[in-house]
Amino acid sequence: MDDFFDIKDRDFQENPHPVYKRLIAECPVHKSERYGFYSVSRYQDVKEILRDTAMWSSKFGPGTAYADPNAPNALVNVDPPEHDFQLKLVNKAFTRQSINAMEPDIAGYVKQLVDGLRPKGRADLMRDFAMHIPLFVISRMLGVNPDDGLMFRGWVEELTMGVFGDADPAVIQRVQGEFGAYFTNEVQKRQKVLEAGGSLPDDLIARLLTAEVDGKTLEPARVLGFISFLLVAGSGTTTMLVCNTIHHLLDNPDQMAKVLANPELIPAAAEESMRFTAPVHGLFRTNNEDVTLHGVHIPKDSKVMCMFAAANVDEAQFSNPDKFDVERDVNELRKQLGFGWGTHICTGAPLARMEARIALTEILTRLPNLRADGQAVQTAPSVLYGFDHLPVAWDVD
Ligand code: HEM
Repeated sequence: MDDFFDIKDRDFQENPHPVYKRLIAECPVHKSERYGFYSVSRYQDVKEILRDTAMWSSKFGPGTAYADPNAPNALVNVDPPEHDFQLKLVNKAFTRQSINAMEPDIAGYVKQLVDGLRPKGRADLMRDFAMHIPLFVISRMLGVNPDDGLMFRGWVEELTMGVFGDADPAVIQRVQGEFGAYFTNEVQKRQKVLEAGGSLPDDLIARLLTAEVDGKTLEPARVLGFISFLLVAGSGTTTMLVCNTIHHLLDNPDQMAKVLANPELIPAAAEESMRFTAPVHGLFRTNNEDVTLHGVHIPKDSKVMCMFAAANVDEAQFSNPDKFDVERDVNELRKQLGFGWGTHICTGAPLARMEARIALTEILTRLPNLRADGQAVQTAPSVLYGFDHLPVAWDVD
């Protein structure tokens, strides 16, 4: 069979659905000769792999490159039972209550962004708006200077390339050095306060350092690993969710009309966007033993991509999956795998949904007659699906 699926192909990135559909129908376990990894695309197969953590390990990391399983890894790179212990600690720091408490600040920040844009009548929604929101949120959550957000953005772009093994090793080393120095300093500042018996600020770094489960805390090195992962996992993806949703609404005027007539549909529109084009095409597991799936032999220790985004358009699960439908049945919508599933399901999903709701509400209710203003530019092909540029215009009164 010709290799019709190349994750680094521009055409795939511009229009992934036909490839997802062909994978599901013709080649449910695909081996990329070019990159050496396998991809699994059917909904039930993806879920089964995510369920069976004893066979399908995260110890070599969620990217194509084999991460060092003996490094002081955090959460997404570890299997149960260490994962369960870490998740309990993280959940203590990352509570629903602490996320909800951020809502007024996030809303204030987003309103300010839109106040600044409104009189201009046009903007690149990605660069001028969406990309700033998660960086503000994560800086605020970690208790570091929000003005440093743009510096984080540079790091995140390089580290994201690293997930796919595409980054220049020298650049990754430099970024890890800068990142390590910045956050080691933040961790040490809080450790000194603790040692002096002082009271810590109520931020995520302090909470991660002090949260205890069964008398054990998270080692500072793992706290750093977790922060680095948070920045990568929580910023580009959320930005993409916001821009992808606006793009689909502009592309489907009937759906836009429904949302404008009834802004209560905004969360459903964002969730449908997660299903329709998940910001993460897929992430990897590594099999602890030889496996044969749909007649394909997968040798032990292979990198296997669980294609969340393909599973989300599997006709066996979703009716009319190629239609972007803001009124899709909620029971179908709940099944979407854009935030992963099972043991490693996204810890930040409630936060991402809140950010998207706030951002989309501001854009859709305060920028009248929103329309495309030139060619949207897709991100370079990688594990992510989204836009580098999304030019839009609106009426100025
Ligand atoms: C639309 C935005 C987002 C998307 C599409 C997304 C997607 C994902 C996916 C697919 C996973 C599963 C990883 C795996 O199975 O290996 C994941 C895990 C995770 N995400 Fe998100 N994410 C988003 C936003 C966020 C945010 C805002 C945060 C936090 C600030 C966050 C934190 C995490 C963490 C900590 C995990 C690891 C959970 C674990 O291993 O137990 N994510 N995310």
